[in-house]
Amino acid sequence: MFSVTCVAPVNIALIKYWGKRHEELILPVNDSISMTLSTDELCAKTTVTASESFETNRMWLNGEEVPFEESSRLQRCLNEVHRLAVASGSQKVPPTWKLHIASVNNFPTAAGLASSAAGYACLVYSLSRLYDIPLNEELTTVARQGSGSACRSLYGGFVQWHRGALDDGSDSVARQIAPSDHWPNMHVLILVVNDARKKTASTRGMQQAVKTSQLIKHRVDQVVPDRIIRLREAIASHDFQAFAEITMKDSNQFHAIALDTYPPCVYMNDVSHSIVSFVHDYNERMGSYHAAYTFDAGPNACLYVLAEHVPHLLSAIQKVFPNDLADGGTYLRGLPIPK
Ligand code: PMV
Repeated sequence: MFSVTCVAPVNIALIKYWGKRHEELILPVNDSISMTLSTDELCAKTTVTASESFETNRMWLNGEEVPFEESSRLQRCLNEVHRLAVASGSQKVPPTWKLHIASVNNFPTAAGLASSAAGYACLVYSLSRLYDIPLNEELTTVARQGSGSACRSLYGGFVQWHRGALDDGSDSVARQIAPSDHWPNMHVLILVVNDARKKTASTRGMQQAVKTSQLIKHRVDQVVPDRIIRLREAIASHDFQAFAEITMKDSNQFHAIALDTYPPCVYMNDVSHSIVSFVHDYNERMGSYHAAYTFDAGPNACLYVLAEHVPHLLSAIQKVFPNDLADGGTYLRGLPIPK
């Protein structure tokens, strides 16, 4: 019997991935950039055990069994890992041995906080250790086939997922832009507005967007390439002003595309919109950008803020939103804020 346990953190996109050009291979229509939180914050923890005596592959997510054999994405990740094991000549675990996989999140799965990104990154990384295959950028192509954004969680710090040009997806890889200690005073506050599951799953939302949104074509061709260059420069030079503006504009454009989808996908709610207004008012009062918001496919806000501005921003949030945030509402780089 062989067993491996790993943790992988959540990543939050600054330039969003939205829309696929190939469904099964999960090839995106545009590049994206994210920041990975550190592993003692929001993360998934996975134990993979291989044994000659297991009769079937089985998986438990937060203690509940999920139908492993029915999930084409899980199967695809496992097949890819087996392929890489054969290619690298690794014979540590015979490919016929079945697996038992147990994965837990240290945050509510239902809160829509990129749980699939951390989950698939953790699964693929654990499998890579179990089968002893090389850690290189090809592994990101395996995580990508579990959940697109998962490829970015294999690295810490700031990460770019390159859309690639090849039909087989071999160049659709994630690469680190800057390591996690590059911008040590960059913090993320997560405001949990609502921890219910999102109404339109991202797979369906993306399919509909690519089919029906006119704005997405403009975004992919005219907007994202330039934003990627400018955000990389902002990260390299620790330019929070440029970083904040690009991040907020990209979140807004992603949600504009969701609304331009027909029928529309509405992910933000009234509280999300008041957080947007609050951040703009707050920045205006401060005379420069002190906070930047971004929203994924749900109503919860992620606020980027430099460490020196956290206490002031937090007290302003708690004054303006005393009752609007879900229980335990605010996380500082993933840690609940003491009341
Ligand atoms: O990887 P998925 O299918 O969970 O899609 C993620 C989509 C966004 O979170 C909205 C954007 C992103 O780049 O992470």
